[in-house]
Amino acid sequence: MNEELKERAVFAIISHPDAGKTTITEKIIWLGQVIRETGMVKSKSGNYAKSDWMELEQERGISITSSVMSFHYGNRAMHLLDTPGHKDFSEDTYRTLTAVESVLMMIDSAKGVEAQTIKLMEVCRLRDTPIITFMNKFDRDSMSPFELLDNLEKILSINCVPMTWPIGDGVDFKGVYDIKNKSIQIFEGNDPLAPTIIDASNLNDSSVINLIGTDLKTKLEDDLELISGLTHPYDEDEFLAGIQTPVFFGSALHNFGVKEVLDMFASKAPGPKPREVLLPPFKDDSSKKMVGPTDNFFSGFIFKIQANMDKRHRDRVAFLRVCSGRFERNQKIFHCRSEKEIKIPAPLLFQAKDREITEYAVAGDIIGLYDSGKYQIGDTFSEGELMQFTGIPSFAPEIFMRMVLKDPLKAKQMEKGLQQLSEEGTVQLFKRYTSNDKILGAVGQLQFEVVKYRLENEYNVLGSYESYPFVAVRWPKFPDEKTKNSFIKEYDLNICFDNKQRICFAVKSEWDLKLVMEKNPKVEFFANSDYL
Ligand code: G4P
Repeated sequence: MNEELKERAVFAIISHPDAGKTTITEKIIWLGQVIRETGMVKSKSGNYAKSDWMELEQERGISITSSVMSFHYGNRAMHLLDTPGHKDFSEDTYRTLTAVESVLMMIDSAKGVEAQTIKLMEVCRLRDTPIITFMNKFDRDSMSPFELLDNLEKILSINCVPMTWPIGDGVDFKGVYDIKNKSIQIFEGNDPLAPTIIDASNLNDSSVINLIGTDLKTKLEDDLELISGLTHPYDEDEFLAGIQTPVFFGSALHNFGVKEVLDMFASKAPGPKPREVLLPPFKDDSSKKMVGPTDNFFSGFIFKIQANMDKRHRDRVAFLRVCSGRFERNQKIFHCRSEKEIKIPAPLLFQAKDREITEYAVAGDIIGLYDSGKYQIGDTFSEGELMQFTGIPSFAPEIFMRMVLKDPLKAKQMEKGLQQLSEEGTVQLFKRYTSNDKILGAVGQLQFEVVKYRLENEYNVLGSYESYPFVAVRWPKFPDEKTKNSFIKEYDLNICFDNKQRICFAVKSEWDLKLVMEKNPKVEFFANSDYL
């Protein structure tokens, strides 16, 4: 792989809400010189970390939308993809994780592994994504570092390799010991970019004892002895295979230990990897191939669509992950779903809230395409060959609602808004076959709030929700047209169309579904549309 490609590092941060993802994102983009100051996260002045784009998430203090922040650090061109931590937005996070090559996992050291970390880790595992771990908030009372490693290994089944080791915690937190370099970085909180580092190759040296005291020195000695017996050495191949995770300790809030983690990404994070594409007719298992960063034809896929990142522009941007070849500004690229060539005159590169037009992009880059409604999540681009990148998941909604308009004259705006929001993946939109009712389906309740809020703010549509008596949808696959037509006739009240006009079967109860499946053994019912 050439140097230009090796430079690229695409990563995301995953965590349970409140573990410190927003805080560390801000510190990382500060180190990457995207922002000039820190301390904006949830500050009283109302300024938030720039990755929090939407007002709603600012009000609630949660990160809802994924965003992309591109910057240079060391000799790497980095793309940090922000992911919402809240479980109601898992869909968005899962899709974003398909576009990264490595992940930073934040753990709250007082709590250890939490529910959402487990779920996100499962997604990383599907693609064997390498993970670097940050044990955050060591400036507060924490679980012991051994307990934390044990907790991670047992719950997440991943081998931990401590790269640093904390000396004390809470008010006694003195700093971290760098295991490889045998040095101590002192926790002073003065200048995190130029921390005081002392040589600790001899722990009995007076400079060490003066710093951490005899008790913590003895404890550190004991800990280090135990670590060497209990943990595996760092192994690059195991890290790259997602079997082993290098573990760092620190405090994102006080910017302690963050630079070490970013240095690790700069030196060890993998560059762009080959990815699988399906070839026409897109259903046959045998028609697959790998497309790699060294292939010289251009290819990529859209993993995220985001509207109104900049309210002044009221625009919509599709984020495209380049997987192979080179893309030049003004190039015509082939949109595989519509089978049309599209000229891209203004490909965008993002730095938190700021954007600039980029002249080119190579495999591993993320660029933004202005979208007037042409693109959908999962769309593949190439230089003319019909192909489809695999593995971008879609989810079966579990909660269903119907929007009731306050002003019936706004029906058209509502329809347009719902259509666009569903194309962005904010919510899933279904149309009932018999009544033409528009039904919204979501995995998490908060998704509905986002839709309502955005309809109000962006489309000037006021509405309220009425719950709909569905518990799930299934995408049926029919053996032939005749079976399909008679099925539609018999179950017309359950038939809906999704936003790609595919037939869905709306489920009123699990019991109902069971009966329908028994009665129609030739029809396959899929829980999501990935398999169609
Ligand atoms: P998230 O994006 O993962 O949800 O977490 P976020 O960064 O928003 O951090 C959650 C809370 O934890 C914030 O406090 C933040 O200041 C705090 N925090 C993050 N990193 C550290 C750290 O290293 N040490 C300490 N002591 N705190 C940290 P908050 O908004 O005031 O929330 P709350 O804790 O008062 O509820």
